[in-house]
Amino acid sequence: EKVLRVGLLGFGTVGSSFAEVLSASGAQDVRITHIFNRDVARKRSHARARFVPAEAVWTERVEDVLEAADVDVVVELMGGLDPIEGWLRSALNAGKHVVTANKQLIAYRGAALFELVASKGVQLLYGAAVAGGVPVIPGMSQGLSGDQITRISGIVNGTCNFILSSMEAGADYSEVLKTAQRLGYAEADPSADVDGFDARAKLCILARIALRAEINPEDVPAQSISQISAVDFAYAKELGCTVRQVSRAQIDGDRISARVGPMLVPKNSPIAWSHGTQNMVVTSGRFGGDVVFSGHGAGGHPTAVAVMSDVRAVAEDSHAVRLPAKKVEVSGGVIAPHYLR
Ligand code: NDP
Ligand code: HSE
Repeated sequence: EKVLRVGLLGFGTVGSSFAEVLSASGAQDVRITHIFNRDVARKRSHARARFVPAEAVWTERVEDVLEAADVDVVVELMGGLDPIEGWLRSALNAGKHVVTANKQLIAYRGAALFELVASKGVQLLYGAAVAGGVPVIPGMSQGLSGDQITRISGIVNGTCNFILSSMEAGADYSEVLKTAQRLGYAEADPSADVDGFDARAKLCILARIALRAEINPEDVPAQSISQISAVDFAYAKELGCTVRQVSRAQIDGDRISARVGPMLVPKNSPIAWSHGTQNMVVTSGRFGGDVVFSGHGAGGHPTAVAVMSDVRAVAEDSHAVRLPAKKVEVSGGVIAPHYLR
């Protein structure tokens, strides 16, 4: 059987979780052969390093991955624009596929990268770049490609949702931001989360896929949630509302309205029911009406699932992933309701 050989860039929250998810999958057709990170000795003592095959090469020289003949796909889980774009260009130019969770890269440099990808006949997949483990990107680019989407709205930053939904329950802003950082939800510079730049990049990615609109992220107004305090929640409550960071984009001919920032959300809106890292994206289609995507939008394991799904798509040279199913017996036991509470 052909084995897809993975060169992993970055062994942090998502990178190490990807190693665990891949190992747990038992897949024989995908194998990590190289890992690049600074300070490899520290990374090799990470608890999740045990999920990396013993024969994998750990390196502090990125060329060892980009130039390796035995790497078929580069999985980039570091973040940032430079030098990452140059590295991924080298990988694509060398005929390697790329899987990434890097929303800034795709939002700012995606258009040029897609041109390169088309000329090289390789794949560049980024399902983890928006909404972590929620398949918003494959859902929009495949399942909804037959509709004309006119509007996208919802919650695409798990850190802000974790902060605001915790503040709604009485938590202190600074304390809960520290917790989000400790749990691996926040960006390396958490101002990207709270000031709306992360959500803005994601909104631009979704606008490209669903609204077919190429937007410069800098043109989208982003308002910070850092000024929100307990008093805002008290007033919101009097109005039957709560506060969430909401991202919205609506297309009307050649014009698009787009915005990211804290908003009053009625308590009876599904968006207000999003707690913790839950993301929720609602699309409105001309023919299909509204479609809701919801689930964990941040965190190592949920995000690693999206990375793993993209890697499987590369391995199978398809987005229509075929997973083997085994025959099981139906027991007829009691199943606790989880969505109907
Ligand atoms: P981490 O900071 O946890 O991991 C990044 C890893 O890359 C770290 O091991 C870091 O090393 C290493 N690294 C960063 N820069 C360099 C460099 N210049 N040279 C060598 N090594 C470097 O980040 P995450 O895993 O949280 O995020 C990775 C990507 O996934 C980002 O693009 C992020 O936006 C995206 N993402 C993250 C999600 C999440 O919930 N965390 C969800 C969806 C997407 P060191 O430990 O030394 O800093
Ligand atoms: N920092 C991001 C968030 C990670 O909190 O949503 C997921 O993209």
